[in-house]
Amino acid sequence: MKIITGISNMQSFADSLRSQGRTIGFVPTMGFLHDGHVSLMGRARQSCDIVVASIFVNPTQFGPREDFSRYPRDVEGDRKKCEAAGVDVLFMPAAAEMYPEKPSVFVVVEGLSDVLEGAIRPGHFRGVATVVAKLFSIVKPHKAFFGQKDYQQCAVIKGMVKGLNLDVEIVVMPIVREKDGLAMSSRNSYLNVDERRKAAKSAR
Ligand code: PAF
Repeated sequence: MKIITGISNMQSFADSLRSQGRTIGFVPTMGFLHDGHVSLMGRARQSCDIVVASIFVNPTQFGPREDFSRYPRDVEGDRKKCEAAGVDVLFMPAAAEMYPEKPSVFVVVEGLSDVLEGAIRPGHFRGVATVVAKLFSIVKPHKAFFGQKDYQQCAVIKGMVKGLNLDVEIVVMPIVREKDGLAMSSRNSYLNVDERRKAAKSAR
């Protein structure tokens, strides 16, 4: 598995794959990978020639009082999971290169971004749409894979792709659950035993 950190290196690698007629499947993540992510990688592996996964904890989708600084991270564990899932390229850009200055350009999918979860997390879906648009223009995928767990995120990304006529197919994969029914999520690691039991109960 190739690890790429530089944006222009990733872009030229994607260009060379495309010029050879190879299809690129892309799984964007914020890391701390679980079997939900692995299922996206497996589907990308089946349907594309080259699988690219990214790990980037995107600061612009976290509110000022949210968990950006304590978001769980495990780069070495993630690298092994990507390798085992058949990922060809792991793209891990630095925040300083993704956002060299305070961002002034954003993608907003109006109507979808400020309702439901967006109503209580102002700016969250703007940050998601913006970073996914940036990642698409760096990785240049033919197909990109997202989990249905983040239902509103999938709707926002599909809306962005349609609204901006982006040439990428969005594939949405079913939720992967723990044995007790709780949807897998990197943030489940925040839950104590009691919270975990309650969350699993409400998932049933
Ligand atoms: O679902 C996520 O992990 C993130 O929102 C994404 C799509 C990687 C954008 O940062």
